[in-house]
Amino acid sequence: MSKLLLVDDETAFLRLAKAWLEKQGHTVVTATDVGAARETFRIERPDLVLLDLVMPPERTPEAGLSLVPIFAGVPVIVLTAHTDHVLALRAVDQGAWDFLAKPVEPDLLRFAVARALAKRALEKEIAALRKALPADDGIVGSSPAIQRVRDMIRRAGPANLPVIVLGPSGTGKELVARALHKASPRCDGPFIPVHCGAIPADLLESELFGHLKGSFTGAHQDREGLIAAADGGTLFLDEVGEMPAAMQVKLLRFLQERTYTPVGSRQEMFADVRVISATHRDLESMIAGGTFREDFFYRLKGLILRCPPLAERREDIAILASRFAVEIGARRSLRLTPDALAWLCEQNWQGNVRELKAVVTTAIALAEGDEITATDLAFARTGDPATMEKAATGKLSEAVAALERQMIADALTRTGNNHSAAARILGLSRVGLIKMMTRLGLR
Ligand SMILES: Nc1ncnc2c1ncn2[C@@H]1O[C@H](COP(=O)(O)OP(=O)(O)OP(=O)(O)O)[C@@H](O)[C@H]1O
Ligand SMILES: [Mg+2]
Repeated sequence: MSKLLLVDDETAFLRLAKAWLEKQGHTVVTATDVGAARETFRIERPDLVLLDLVMPPERTPEAGLSLVPIFAGVPVIVLTAHTDHVLALRAVDQGAWDFLAKPVEPDLLRFAVARALAKRALEKEIAALRKALPADDGIVGSSPAIQRVRDMIRRAGPANLPVIVLGPSGTGKELVARALHKASPRCDGPFIPVHCGAIPADLLESELFGHLKGSFTGAHQDREGLIAAADGGTLFLDEVGEMPAAMQVKLLRFLQERTYTPVGSRQEMFADVRVISATHRDLESMIAGGTFREDFFYRLKGLILRCPPLAERREDIAILASRFAVEIGARRSLRLTPDALAWLCEQNWQGNVRELKAVVTTAIALAEGDEITATDLAFARTGDPATMEKAATGKLSEAVAALERQMIADALTRTGNNHSAAARILGLSRVGLIKMMTRLGLR
């Protein structure tokens, strides 16, 4: 049984429509103004909203229109006067699912309600499928290089080993560290990042170990350190290459014994912490140059995990960019055009995924329509439309195929390899999906 929210200020219409819809087997709740509509929506959580746009107190369509985004996630059918096509289209633009002209034809209403409820049911099913999945580690890509990273996370995550994550800036080192934590038995414990380069050297010790009140000027209270906060979980030493030498020595004991002494205290403490560290620096040459302690390095290094630069996995560029467009575009249905994808694949991304994400974000912020073109991206990257070089299309089909492969793989994982359900998520028929898989060599 479905619950419908009917919003209209004409009580006569409300009464009639409510009775009629109830006869069709629906539960109906009503509201006669904007405030009540919001409140009823919040409390009743309906499956569908029927909304008259012109309502008190203002009696302008603006108030009704402003409700449409608030009802996000639930299909909204807008009711407007016969003549008001422009208004109806504006509502659809705001996210409304359908519109009907008043006076409403019962058959049309029945059909529109059934169609909207079917969409709602499908969305609920997809949401349930998503929830049933193992937590997503957020790592996007299907290149062999990123597959190796995933494989390492799968194997090293559950082991209690310390790990050093190496890789150039913006390659996803923090993302990988979090994924290692999530893949470990400590996943319900805390994940505590420490930005070793950002904390002044003289504060780092008390930040990590904590301190007692009065142990130094400004220590007005006892304070627990980040190591204590990470007890039972993972401590992430980010930019560990910036760790001052004196602090490296102080951490050695903790890395060996898991014991430490807060600043100003004599009492030894213990914390059950797994240490993951990361840096974009070349630690081995730092060791050779005497700026990074070798003994410290060996305590951090149970395993070295390298995050590949984007240049070594160019086939992931299109899928990364498309994901970012969906994530960042949120409720807008934004699309990167094929020439945009081709252009992205041709660029050198010195700043790796971080830079790619930043360019897509800027392009989306500047976009006026729902398509992002190569020109938009070139402008977002350089601020200069003239630098846009003609995108070669050679890589295009490759990029699109990689994208399709990834989408199919995701849908199949989500549905536990159920082809019919995966096809539905992708908006394809089952046969259509199978044809596509055959074309992409996935069968
Ligand atoms: N494989 C990936 N899939 C999805 N998003 C990614 C991937 N790699 C990186 N990102 C995203 O790129 C951004 C940068 O990633 P992250 O902060 O983990 O990089 P980093 O290696 O720690 O960079 P830095 O050295 O600059 O600190 C983040 O927004 C992250 O979510
Ligand atoms: Mg980082």
